[in-house]
Amino acid sequence: MLIRRPSDILPSEITPPALYAQRREFIKSGAALAGALGFGSLPAFAESAHGQKLDGLRKSALSTDEKPTAYESITSYGNFYEFGPNKDSPLKNAQRLRTRPWTIQIDGEVKRPQTVAIDDLLKWAPLEERIYRLRCVEGWSMVVPWVGFSLAEVIRRAEITGNAKYVEFHSLADPEQMPYVRTPVLDWPYVEGLRLDEAMHPLTLLAVGLYGEVLPKQNGAPVRLVVPWKYGFKSAKSIVRIRFVAQQPKTAWVKSNPEEYGFYSNVNPEVDHPRWSQAQERRIGDFLKRKTQPFNGYAEQVARLYTGMDLRRNY
Ligand code: MTE
Repeated sequence: MLIRRPSDILPSEITPPALYAQRREFIKSGAALAGALGFGSLPAFAESAHGQKLDGLRKSALSTDEKPTAYESITSYGNFYEFGPNKDSPLKNAQRLRTRPWTIQIDGEVKRPQTVAIDDLLKWAPLEERIYRLRCVEGWSMVVPWVGFSLAEVIRRAEITGNAKYVEFHSLADPEQMPYVRTPVLDWPYVEGLRLDEAMHPLTLLAVGLYGEVLPKQNGAPVRLVVPWKYGFKSAKSIVRIRFVAQQPKTAWVKSNPEEYGFYSNVNPEVDHPRWSQAQERRIGDFLKRKTQPFNGYAEQVARLYTGMDLRRNY
């Protein structure tokens, strides 16, 4: 195996979160599975979101004025481990995902549990374009013109009980459509969580679109979370369940590697990842690195949520 110095290694080459220990098993079982399914030789499910415009979008004042990353980069470089381990696996393998019919179960600490069809959920609030920075824990970043509305709109309609202190988000885990769910990379389904006040913050977005069009499958269609001041992995894709709970959720990455991934996962340039620094990031499309900002540049809006908390301990 080629051994390189850390300075020679691009952030994109860093082994993705928590795959480190399990990588061999993952590659072995993934390759076997790909063979068994004839994976790669099947025609991709052709229906593409590109060109499916979303009408009546408002521009949100919560947007950054930075230049959005190219559509081609946002849609071809990402993490969606249900579809494979590489940055281009989601683009290649997610096209078989069926995004209709699609329902979202809303349950737990609510007065009236309900299951909502995605097309009904889309009527719950006007869609906005929100241009946000996204900073991945691996050290790369993008500027993404999402389309969606604040998660707070859903929480208001969910009629939560007084016991609800946290929100859990469950991604779909269907091995028929998501071949790598058969591999032991994570304890599926992909589960993420937020404290209720984080979830209610107006910046916290349920995204259903990108660049004014329907959300591409590889980016988490038909509906995903976006929490711009946290590392990208908090933003669960292809959500099928939103559950309100009293206790801090056990999220997929915390279960898999609690030393490396904490529940809070706020972008914090002062807290290194155990295997690399978080002081800088590489914006996709840029050559030089830039300094990472506390809370990914959203400190003014969100720092107050953490008053009195030790953010080195609560990483
Ligand atoms: N959601 C699910 N269900 N599965 C995943 O593997 N990866 C996370 C997050 N949401 C992931 C997920 C990580 S590590 C990142 S950086 C972002 O999705 C990437 O989102 P993007 O591909 O739209 O940039």
